[in-house]
Amino acid sequence: MTFQRTLVTTALPYANGPVHIGHLAGVYVPADIYVRYLRLKGENVLFVGGSDEHGVPVTIRARKEGITTQEVVDRYHNIIKNSFEGFGISFDVYSRTTSKIHHQLASDFFRKLYDEGKFVEQTSEQFYDPETQEFLTDRNIRGECPRCHAAGAYGDQCEKCGATLSPDELINPYNAINGNPLTKKETKHWYLPLDQYQQWLEEWILQEHKEWRPNVYGQCKSWLDGGLRPRAVTRDLDWGIPVPVEGAEGKVLYVWFDAPIGYISNTKELCDAKPEHFGNWETWWKDPSTRLIHFIGKDNIVFHCIVFPTMLKAEGSYIVPDNVPSNEFLNLEGDKISTSRNWAVWLNEYLVDFPDKQDVLRYVLTANAPETKDNDFTWADFQARNNNELVAIYGNFVNRALVLTKKYFDGKVPAVGTFNEYDQATIAEFQNVKAEVEKLLNDFRFRDAQKEAMNLARIGNKYLADTEPWKIAKTDMDRTATILHLALQIAANLSVAFEPFLPFSSAKLRKMLSMSELKWEELGNINLLQEGQELGEVSLLFEKIEDATIQAQLDRLANIKAANEEAEKQEALKNWKPVEIKENTNIDEFVKMDIRVATVIDCQPVKKSDRLLQFRLDDGMGGRTILSGIAQSYPDPSVLIGKQVLFIANFPPRKMMGIESQGMILSAVDADGKLVVTTVTAQVKNGSQVG
Ligand code: 2FM
Ligand code: ZN
Repeated sequence: MTFQRTLVTTALPYANGPVHIGHLAGVYVPADIYVRYLRLKGENVLFVGGSDEHGVPVTIRARKEGITTQEVVDRYHNIIKNSFEGFGISFDVYSRTTSKIHHQLASDFFRKLYDEGKFVEQTSEQFYDPETQEFLTDRNIRGECPRCHAAGAYGDQCEKCGATLSPDELINPYNAINGNPLTKKETKHWYLPLDQYQQWLEEWILQEHKEWRPNVYGQCKSWLDGGLRPRAVTRDLDWGIPVPVEGAEGKVLYVWFDAPIGYISNTKELCDAKPEHFGNWETWWKDPSTRLIHFIGKDNIVFHCIVFPTMLKAEGSYIVPDNVPSNEFLNLEGDKISTSRNWAVWLNEYLVDFPDKQDVLRYVLTANAPETKDNDFTWADFQARNNNELVAIYGNFVNRALVLTKKYFDGKVPAVGTFNEYDQATIAEFQNVKAEVEKLLNDFRFRDAQKEAMNLARIGNKYLADTEPWKIAKTDMDRTATILHLALQIAANLSVAFEPFLPFSSAKLRKMLSMSELKWEELGNINLLQEGQELGEVSLLFEKIEDATIQAQLDRLANIKAANEEAEKQEALKNWKPVEIKENTNIDEFVKMDIRVATVIDCQPVKKSDRLLQFRLDDGMGGRTILSGIAQSYPDPSVLIGKQVLFIANFPPRKMMGIESQGMILSAVDADGKLVVTTVTAQVKNGSQVG
């Protein structure tokens, strides 16, 4: 199939907060590089983005900030849109899923599938708050994590240990908004029967798209191998697109049903407004000669590779994606980026803190792009890449070429003489770069492609360092002219090669070289600048970033970390078991327990148990064995050997896992559920009684 046009979409970010470096690195910079590259090649391409304004995350934000949901999405849609503009993400359209066009299109899409009997109806029991008379979505249910026992895990995920959860697994689930305990109640929903499309999906993905990135292909394969099940496409919620069916009052389309349709609605919005420029929206979505590419993060793979294509297939008149380049995650200074924990570098703040340095972040995020595995953003790396690569290589080369031309040739492109062997070798070397960059970009390997572009700058830098025109100028102006002529031509090539990656710097460089817009095809051409052509004003392409600037960012993060730890402590404290005064309890009850001190002689995990540790104690009375369920808190139990511990000596022996336990070791439980054995503050004789 030869494609005639390319439609590029980027995941619609939730309008529940500003966008951060993780968004930029994972989705928007790679997509923008790709689109800019295609445009430079003169291809017919449309770049679609927008905000995802439905779903629970925005309603949670509204409650937290005490404003309406509409106010939340208005605020963040604008912040997000401005951030993308600030970073030069060159969308043809950036709209929103609260638009009229989108509500209509998504509603019609659902209704068509409904009328054609493509959904299955199912009634099931869901968590319900009897007091507020509301069903709760996964994100609005919290409780104790069944894995790490952290308090306040969400119904879909524990932020502490990262486990993916379902609300049914939570221990003591409660309503996240008001703390109410929950019951279960029956409710009806519509399901997309993914199972009926399993065979088609297997053929389409596993057979026909073996070229997809291994992380994407692998995730799809494991979903398919596990067997697909029907997925609910409606929710009990008061924010979203009403389900357009009688008897569905109080229900809306599931956000993951309407959001990807947003790609279509936003295309329609653009094309309807400017048909003469962008043509008919249906050509972009229904003509098989359109190549559809979704740029997304890894948490969105199933929706873009399985659910949305199934929706499109079920509808029947749409094309399905040709590729879904998905990135892994970017961490920040070793920790997972988190909107709710404010652990992020926010793009709107970066634009204020680092004016005119958008390309520096674009460069660093691409150089470190999480294309095949999760990666880490650190401010130290940001500084190093700026100072040692952008400034020292690219910037330095361009600056030297321009400043020397100003100095020796009155700022005009000098006439070229005969190229010597070294010049020829340099030319041959940099002409190879074009094919290499192209190959990598066509393969969505942006990180390596940018590295190749940087190699071009390295070649130029080395050329000037080796030929030393500032020395030659003392004796041979003709040779100096040839060197600087070639150096300027390489600089002109750099403005083309870097255009997809660093558009602001390319524009600046073009201005310094008095160049007009160029085509990708001209990359490798050493006649981009005319002899005698006057150069523009020379300024630094990149500036050094000082330690103090980086320290300020690190201090900011340290403050956030401290605030998060404090907030977690407070949250955990809420879960302390309250002290209950028991009327009939007195000292007589207490002295029934014979609590004593012993030294741990040995401590080993019990085989086939992930909970139990086996203690051998010197109890001053001949020794004993006790089993204790604290293995999770002591990954290395040998640290307890030699310590004195407190234990109850007069419980009747009990067998667990075939081993007799002769008593109980006393441990303190902290607010996070972590267990710590109790001890004495100074050495006492083993067997001493506690009372
Ligand atoms: O994960 C997210 O942030 C979602 N809002 C992405 C939606 S992508 C698309 F389907 F719109
Ligand atoms: Zn957990």
